[in-house]
Amino acid sequence: MTQEHIVVFQPSGVRGKVPAGTHLRAAARSLGVEIESVCAENATCGQCRILVEDGRRGGVASALDHVTPMGVDEQEFFAKRTKAWKRLGLDIERLRLSCQAEVCGDVVVFVPESSRGNRQIVRKSATERLIDVRPTVRRYYVEMEPATLAKPLADVARLADALVEVMERVGDGANCIAPGPDDLRFDYTVLRRVSDAVREGDWKISVAVWNDCEVIDIRSGYHDEAYGAAVDIGSTAIALYLCDLASGEVVATESMMNPQTAFGDDIMSRMTYQVDNEDGLAALHDAVLTAVNTLLGRALRRCKLEVDDLLEMVVVGNTTMHHLFLNMTTAHLGLAPFVPTMHRSLDIKARDLGIEANPAAYVHLLPIEASFVGADNVGVLLAEEPHHQDDELLIIDIGTNAELVVGNRKRLLCTSTPTGPAFEGAHIEYGMRAAPGAIERVRIDDDTLEPTYTVISVDDEESPQAKGICGSAIIDAVAEMFRVGIIDSSGRFVERTDLPRIRQGEFGWEYVVAFEEETSIGHDIPITIQDVRQIQLAKSALYAAAHILLREAGIQRPDKVILAGAFGAHIDPTQALILGMIPDTPISDVYAVGNAAGDGARIALLNRDKRREAMELVGAIQRVELPVDPDFQNQFMLALNFPHMAHPFSSIAHLIPASEPDPVAQRFLDLHVNDPS
Ligand code: FES
Repeated sequence: MTQEHIVVFQPSGVRGKVPAGTHLRAAARSLGVEIESVCAENATCGQCRILVEDGRRGGVASALDHVTPMGVDEQEFFAKRTKAWKRLGLDIERLRLSCQAEVCGDVVVFVPESSRGNRQIVRKSATERLIDVRPTVRRYYVEMEPATLAKPLADVARLADALVEVMERVGDGANCIAPGPDDLRFDYTVLRRVSDAVREGDWKISVAVWNDCEVIDIRSGYHDEAYGAAVDIGSTAIALYLCDLASGEVVATESMMNPQTAFGDDIMSRMTYQVDNEDGLAALHDAVLTAVNTLLGRALRRCKLEVDDLLEMVVVGNTTMHHLFLNMTTAHLGLAPFVPTMHRSLDIKARDLGIEANPAAYVHLLPIEASFVGADNVGVLLAEEPHHQDDELLIIDIGTNAELVVGNRKRLLCTSTPTGPAFEGAHIEYGMRAAPGAIERVRIDDDTLEPTYTVISVDDEESPQAKGICGSAIIDAVAEMFRVGIIDSSGRFVERTDLPRIRQGEFGWEYVVAFEEETSIGHDIPITIQDVRQIQLAKSALYAAAHILLREAGIQRPDKVILAGAFGAHIDPTQALILGMIPDTPISDVYAVGNAAGDGARIALLNRDKRREAMELVGAIQRVELPVDPDFQNQFMLALNFPHMAHPFSSIAHLIPASEPDPVAQRFLDLHVNDPS
């Protein structure tokens, strides 16, 4: 039998027993303690660092050698970072990566604040949208002739006859393909209840019919409850909207962080985790399934509804989330030629997936556009409807992987580009998710170069001290640093020694946003030159993708730029333009539309015609493959400068410093660009 050891996590005091050989981070997870990770436990991000206590603590004799010695990967990681950890005041003798150190004796572990996982502030509320309510699931009230010796028709046949009559009478016109009695299917769980239900209701019953062809629920007497859920599974957060299928009203909204973040912050890390671990797929699938069931349970309880009342669910997510939700491998999606298992939409019984709904209910997944342009983007299209407009729209859903669509009713093109996790605060020296304690907005005074910032707090609580900086603030900070001249258009610091905030740090020049005494981590929070580089790489990939997509569509300048997604809703459009994240567009034509993917899921839940429209869109949209575009590298290099090496940004030209031509940029232009327009 495997030996077990006691593990205590401080400062929470959570303790429990785990088998010898368990990684500390896995032990923490099993005991409900969240420790950060960005690299899928590859010993490269350092977010999971902890301290091993040496000595007796709370009745446990802990020792440094009660965890396994460092392997090569961990040694290499620390060799590069020792000075930085010392600077943080951490005792490096006791410092370990919790994803690498394995338990081999009783141990007490201290999780520093910078490594603690937080409940992210999930901002995914439903938007007011006009939806023509024509759901796939509809309830009918049926009064049947009782069975008699003279007419001993089977109960199901008798019900089918009566139901078809009612459907012809009250079905929603052309939308109701009234079936013949023989065309109606009955779910097995309904079949088993039919005989009792009709008699208990004195031959008066209510049934729910899915897609005009299958009876999925039967109740004695009159009932008109019919509910459905629209679910948006994002890489970072999951949002669920519980809707009344008859009225279309959103009766409850629930959201939470995607627990898969414990396995890596971006989709690439999770795909790697799945491939590298024998039980990787099961762990990732279970995590998302449990989260969806948790949200569903909360929403139903909030509305005092039963599990059986949930008659359908529509799910959207990027291709990786889609596959993991369906318990399908992402191994081949991550390798050239990056092909998903399926493109088409799918209807699958909730019970087959383990969704805690009415056992006969269906889960509908919207189709996938391209390898990395998923069902979430189809949701965005259903919500924003570029295919019904004359204006040329550029729609950008920003995440660790950005999905872009351009066009109008005549033609639509899509592509995707990895932007890395920098926009979400990862790979940034003091980056963190949008959680309590994160700096979320930054402004810098033009004259004094002093910053002002706001910190995310919990509900009405007083603003806490800063412990890091989240994506929207990193974009703010770098844009402001460029605007006021702390960095130049190439991202280099303008070296000066007269201000303590601008200084040489561990990694080169840096600008201090918050000094130690303003923070809860006992250290200054600077934006380093390396952070600026990370933002340059991310914004450059995004801009180059948008530029090539517009070029392929033959569009000089889009009429509107739409920023979709919760993150898009928190970016300041002016700062995005100053950085050159998005093509030059008048600020008044840049719109943030919030969680359009979730809205699209809701639209598909409430209007079945939209599901057909989604399939037509996926069939018609033209996919642009950036990896094979010979111009992508050039465009990427050109976009590294703020806001761009060659493109004028007239919409924000008055806001940014007039700079001398950058000689490096000029040389690149001379060498590689004949027509920079
Ligand atoms: S180094 Fe441990 S999770 Fe990244």
